[in-house]
Amino acid sequence: MEITLSVLKADIGSIGGHIQPSTALTEKVREIIQHKGRKQLIDSRVSWTGDDIAILMTHQQGVGATAIHEMAWEAFLAGTEVARSEGLYGAGQDLLADAFSGNVRGMGPGVAEMTFQERDAEPFVLFAADKTDPGAFNLPLYRAFADPMNTPGLLLSPALTEGFRFVIMDVAHTGKDRVIELEAPEDLYRIAALLRDPERYVVESIWSRHSGQQAVAASTSRLHNIAGKYTGKDDPVMLVRVQKDFPATGEILAPFSTGHFVAGGMRGSHNMPLMPVPLNAGTSYFDGPPIVTGAAFCVHEGKLTDPVDVFAHPFWDRVRDQVADKAMDMRQQGFFGAAMLPMDELEYTGITTTLDSLDERFRVRPNGPEPLRQAL
Ligand code: 13P
Ligand code: 13P
Ligand code: MG
Ligand code: MG
Ligand code: MG
Ligand code: MG
Repeated sequence: MEITLSVLKADIGSIGGHIQPSTALTEKVREIIQHKGRKQLIDSRVSWTGDDIAILMTHQQGVGATAIHEMAWEAFLAGTEVARSEGLYGAGQDLLADAFSGNVRGMGPGVAEMTFQERDAEPFVLFAADKTDPGAFNLPLYRAFADPMNTPGLLLSPALTEGFRFVIMDVAHTGKDRVIELEAPEDLYRIAALLRDPERYVVESIWSRHSGQQAVAASTSRLHNIAGKYTGKDDPVMLVRVQKDFPATGEILAPFSTGHFVAGGMRGSHNMPLMPVPLNAGTSYFDGPPIVTGAAFCVHEGKLTDPVDVFAHPFWDRVRDQVADKAMDMRQQGFFGAAMLPMDELEYTGITTTLDSLDERFRVRPNGPEPLRQAL
């Protein structure tokens, strides 16, 4: 049976700052999806990661379906009403359009979707991250799908040895999507040359070259490209099908033990390490650290199993300790150098006002160094 998995996520308000949504808000979103989805959906799950709500849906209307996106948009609007009524912070933060039109792409919410013929066993993982942006998934996806040091399946499974196709988007491009398709392993160094710049080049999807089947769908929206100013972080979601012609679940999870530095901590302006956390975890230290959750499912005829919380295992406690150390090490240097994002990422924040006001006070010395002219 052919099904579509759709995950749409948005920050529509949270308790105590950018920490986590309220129970009433989450319940409202769930209620709307369950009620309106009776005809349109086969199944759904509503979860949260930090201050972001993710709606996972299974259906048969394909990718980008208006009815599915509109339902999620209406659920986010209803959740926003609850957020307002409770005085939550950032109510409706990621809903950047006044009215729904066609599908939610370019309207604020993040979207990851794929349509496929269900395998007899269909395991997949939904990853959701907070206080970071879509480039956060570049490193784990590169390692899992292109690096035999991480993924022994690339040696041990003939299907995986044929490699994977990476579809990579230039997220700095405005207007129509600018994408490139590259093949691992032949294009490995070219893939690396792009993915090393995660604020600009982002993995949109990955495909098995053996079967032609889609393995990964990831969200690519960058809010400041939509709004033209800082409106919170882009907090990505992705769907990864696992096992058989794809990497094993553990091969996808392993790269998250690095706690790699990602953009998006505190005011969307800092590099901080990405911490794998249990489902439905909020944020804390320095409005973070950036977090990622993983919910593993199987799906059959569109019906979802219960989620398994992949980062709840005790192994990840040790990783979390190491990531906390990395986070505090980076914070030792405050706003200096690599701790804060470069200017082209900050230009959407208010720092430009300060810099503009200083601009007219700069002067060019005509005759080289000179003594101070005024007594202090
Ligand atoms: P099981 O025997 O537990 O199914 O092991 C499969 C495996 O090796 C996964 O990496
Ligand atoms: P959110 O996008 O998660 O709301 O991030 C806001 C932020 O950067 C808080 O410091
Ligand atoms: Mg927020
Ligand atoms: Mg968020
Ligand atoms: Mg956000
Ligand atoms: Mg087994």
